[in-house]
Amino acid sequence: MKPVRPILDMNAYDGKTSFAQTKEGDDLLSRRTRNFGAASVLFYRDPIEMVSGSGCWMTAADGTSYLDFYNNVPSVGHCHPRVLVAMSEQAAKLNINSRYLHQTTEEYLDRLKATFPNYLENIVLTCSGSEANDLALRIAQRATGARGFIVTESAYHGNTAAVTDISPSALKRGQLPDHVIAIPAPSKLTYGDDIAAGFADEVNKAALVLQDRGYGVAALIADSIFSSDGVFSNPRGFLRLAVAIVHRADGLFIADEVQPGFARTGDAFWGFARHDVEPDIVSMGKPMGNGFPMAGIAVRPELLSAFCDDVGYFNTFAASPVASATGLAVLNVIRDENLQANAALCGKSLREGLLHLADIDGRISDVRGAGLFIGVDLSPDGDPTNPSGQLVSDIINAMRENRVLIGAAGKYGQTLKIRPPLCLKSSEVDFFIEALAKSLRACR
Ligand SMILES: Cc1ncc(COP(=O)(O)O)c(C=O)c1O
Repeated sequence: MKPVRPILDMNAYDGKTSFAQTKEGDDLLSRRTRNFGAASVLFYRDPIEMVSGSGCWMTAADGTSYLDFYNNVPSVGHCHPRVLVAMSEQAAKLNINSRYLHQTTEEYLDRLKATFPNYLENIVLTCSGSEANDLALRIAQRATGARGFIVTESAYHGNTAAVTDISPSALKRGQLPDHVIAIPAPSKLTYGDDIAAGFADEVNKAALVLQDRGYGVAALIADSIFSSDGVFSNPRGFLRLAVAIVHRADGLFIADEVQPGFARTGDAFWGFARHDVEPDIVSMGKPMGNGFPMAGIAVRPELLSAFCDDVGYFNTFAASPVASATGLAVLNVIRDENLQANAALCGKSLREGLLHLADIDGRISDVRGAGLFIGVDLSPDGDPTNPSGQLVSDIINAMRENRVLIGAAGKYGQTLKIRPPLCLKSSEVDFFIEALAKSLRACR
């Protein structure tokens, strides 16, 4: 049995490697460790000090530039000038909480709502994906009168107490609470050719267990591209049956779009559209403000009003004029720079390049994904049932030597998680493929 890897342990600094001195001769890493204590989580065996970013590139303190293939926060590009201007001009004028009327906020929410199906009439803004999911869970429990949740086994949905409870991938020891059932991710390895039926069957079994335990089913919550589970996008529509089953059990379906949302999958603005399902609540975050902390939910109005009958909801920093101006600029850039189409186009050539590498290197056992969200499984002998977190970790560190930043995912950390900004250029796709070919050769 291979050890299961919690998400924050993937490609993480292990506290052992020495670190280059900063310009001032001060050891930044030991200051970091002193300040953050046990909660310090850093990427790479030898952590990197970053100083600037532009487009898909980041520059480190030693002058090395890195192609960023693992960052869906600055999704329209690092330090995008239009986003910066919108953000700073509004900050120079006024920034207040949302308990005053403001033109830009309503303009933003109207534009954001237009990206959703009409029945999701209300938007509540928050500052983080965790807050958004926390609110979604509370609304689901209020609407259904049930307390139980169904999640996938390596899911990550955030860091509040309630949301950590439904994030198996955050667990380092112990087990999920009784009101949460984790089911295997929708992979071909687990379910064979009929992923839709196999996954729906697991949802059904989990619903029965929750009912048996007296919790009932408040919701199935799923990241629409199952990113921390290892990126599972195909076949299109496989979620439909599972959603029907959860609705039949009187639960809701919450689509967590924190990862795939905002045009990343190329074929649609939201990941759930790929499955032609109607989520009751959609949570969103990360790319929403291109680095400005923005998140939120889109929700059926009747669910929100039932919740608000019991408690008030107010979030000081969310829906501020600066957040609204920033979010609006992000939507404008996605539209004006055709980033959804670019995600589809560059994603296709990226997958083609990866499939070509898989033809010449048998250790690549699977290439999956949609648009600019791609998962690549590695195993030392090419056997998909023998996944290797170690090989993935070696490749990620070799890629860093070749000036490309990528991440890991999957239950055992066996999947390369590839997720560049949406403004990717074809020359950067080529740079990435060349770096991966070199890294694979170096890790023989
Ligand atoms: C699918 C998913 N949902 C929710 C979250 C939580 O978002 P945040 O870190 O903004 O609280 C994350 C963060 O990685 C995520 O990947």
